[in-house]
Amino acid sequence: MIAPSLGDKQAQLDQIKADMIKQNICPNLAKTATNMVFGDGSPNAEIVFIGEAPGKNEDLTGLPFVGAAGKFLNELLEHIGLRREDVYITSIIKYRPPQNRDPLPEEKAASWPYMQAQLEVINPKLVATLGRHSMNCFLPDLQISKVHGEFQKVTLPSVLKPGTTVEFAILPLFHPAAAIYNRGLRQTLMDDFSGIPGALKQITK
Ligand code: URA
Repeated sequence: MIAPSLGDKQAQLDQIKADMIKQNICPNLAKTATNMVFGDGSPNAEIVFIGEAPGKNEDLTGLPFVGAAGKFLNELLEHIGLRREDVYITSIIKYRPPQNRDPLPEEKAASWPYMQAQLEVINPKLVATLGRHSMNCFLPDLQISKVHGEFQKVTLPSVLKPGTTVEFAILPLFHPAAAIYNRGLRQTLMDDFSGIPGALKQITK
C-alpha cells in the first residue's frame, strides 16, 4: 500500500489522503458523504486525538470535531492549556456514515491501515482515543468504562516499514459527544484530560 517516504510530514499526510481517495476506501460512505474528513492540526503534534467518524458538521466542512462534540473537545483542550493548532485531530472513519450510524467492522478494517500510516508519519508521544470504537481498534479486549484515563502501550506491525514494529502510548478517553448531556461524564473527561500534560512531559521520543 502506501509508502510515503519523501518530504515533510504534511506532504506525507497529503500523500496518504490522496492514496485513500485513489483506492476508494469505503465506497458506500464516500458516495453519500459531502467531504472526506482526513484530519486537522499540527503534523508535528505531540498528541493525536482519534474519534469515531465525522458527523453532519464535519461532513459539511471537511474538518473533524467542529460540531457540539468539537466545542466540548475545545473546552477540554483549553482546560489543559492546549489549542487545536497544538494537537492533531482525526477519526478512524474518514467519511460520515449515513444518519450517523455506527461504523461497520469492514469500514473500520478498510480505514485502519491508513489511520495507522497517519500515526506513523506524525509519530506522536501520545494517542488519545475518543470513545470505544477508536479505543477498540488499538485495544480490542478492553472496556472503556474500566480503563478510561489509564495509559496503555500497544506494539503493532508497521504499515510503512514492513518487517518492523511501532509502539504507541494510548490514553483511552470517553467520546466528548457522550458527555454533552451527562454532567458526570463531563467531569470524568476533565479529570482524565488532566493527566495529559504530565504524561507528555514524561514520555520521551
Ligand atoms: N465525532 C467523531 O468521532 N469525529 C468527528 O470528527 C466528529 C464527531
